[in-house]
Amino acid sequence: MTDNPIFAVAAKAEALRAQGADVISLAAGEPRAATSTVVVEAAVDALRDPATHHYGTAQGDPALRASVARTVAEETGLVWIADDVQIALGAKHALFLAAQALIEAGDEVLVTAPGWPGHAEVVTAAGGVAVPVATDEEFRISAEALDNCRTPRTRAVILSSPGNPTGAVHTDSRLQQIAEWAERHGIWVVSDNIYRAFDYTGTYRSILRVAPQLRGRTVVVSGVSKEHAMTGWRVGWLAAPPEIIASARLHVSRTITHVPTVNQRAALAALSDTGTPVRAARDYRRRRTLLVEALNGIDGINCPLPDGGMFAFPDVSGVLRDRGWTSSADLAAWLLDTARLAVVPGEAFNAPGRIRVCFAVDDETLITAIERLRTALGPTEHEAAAQQLEEAR
Ligand SMILES: Cc1ncc(COP(=O)(O)O)c(C=O)c1O
Repeated sequence: MTDNPIFAVAAKAEALRAQGADVISLAAGEPRAATSTVVVEAAVDALRDPATHHYGTAQGDPALRASVARTVAEETGLVWIADDVQIALGAKHALFLAAQALIEAGDEVLVTAPGWPGHAEVVTAAGGVAVPVATDEEFRISAEALDNCRTPRTRAVILSSPGNPTGAVHTDSRLQQIAEWAERHGIWVVSDNIYRAFDYTGTYRSILRVAPQLRGRTVVVSGVSKEHAMTGWRVGWLAAPPEIIASARLHVSRTITHVPTVNQRAALAALSDTGTPVRAARDYRRRRTLLVEALNGIDGINCPLPDGGMFAFPDVSGVLRDRGWTSSADLAAWLLDTARLAVVPGEAFNAPGRIRVCFAVDDETLITAIERLRTALGPTEHEAAAQQLEEAR
């Protein structure tokens, strides 16, 4: 079993930093901002409350579950109550619990390619087989592509919108088609909405908003990690039909007992702090443009403007060709060695010829990273002078 390749890059960058190297990491998929003071203060208050020093319930704090239910209700336009929600150790654990509930050994689950490796990992961990489904040129999946990969063992599809690493936001008509396909073939939909706050075109919609009839075979997964810069706090959730929640609750009870109570209180405070995700989305939107324009200014790089999420996902095949490299991993290794800049090679996402660059860092860090990219991959002084001469003719 191999570990998530994103962590491998982030760990190498961290090791170099520990040796004193001035490394900028745009590798990890997390906001670099600190968690908001409101949330930190709520956690400090929770620490002082002896009630948090003892066991809680496996399904999670009722107040947090009620708050999550309200959020999911707002997002889907359907009625959800606290009983419909299971609190997990982050969205990844929620995906793991959903996979454990849904999958029998040998069941197939469709995941997008390019896509986040964590989706395939939870499927494999549950004894299932992750089947990559190719996306279109805008990185969206279609009912047709899903159907080409369907077999009698197909149990579920994991849909992430906005996506990681692509930022693709699925349109209403696509979601409608996918929902009809899932309904027709009795396939479950796991809807991973972790990046929903980072929607730069205002087109994000939950599949359940578009196709409420899918409620009985949909698991909604999300959490506070990305929206509230709380990746280290490990709080996420799933909202699902009773049989999935019952399975998840039992799994939690038999393993971790419950998510640490102080962290659940912090997540509860985060859900009332609606300003933080809005401000983050405004900042990321600006940084997205800055990064994408800079990448497109480099010869051999072609970067689409992502509709959502926290990543630029450029095609770097021109650079690889010019420099005689065979994979994006060569480029990523070279950028780390020479420019002290960490990015994730596309191979990690089933997308050779691309790299993933996170723009959820502060302006100053991003601007320095862009300068490093330009110096490393832009024309040499000699080439620039020759180009100027050519243009002057
Ligand atoms: C699409 C997607 N889902 C889930 C997660 C995991 O989120 P969490 O940190 O809450 O486990 C990530 C993290 O990168 C992600 O990209």
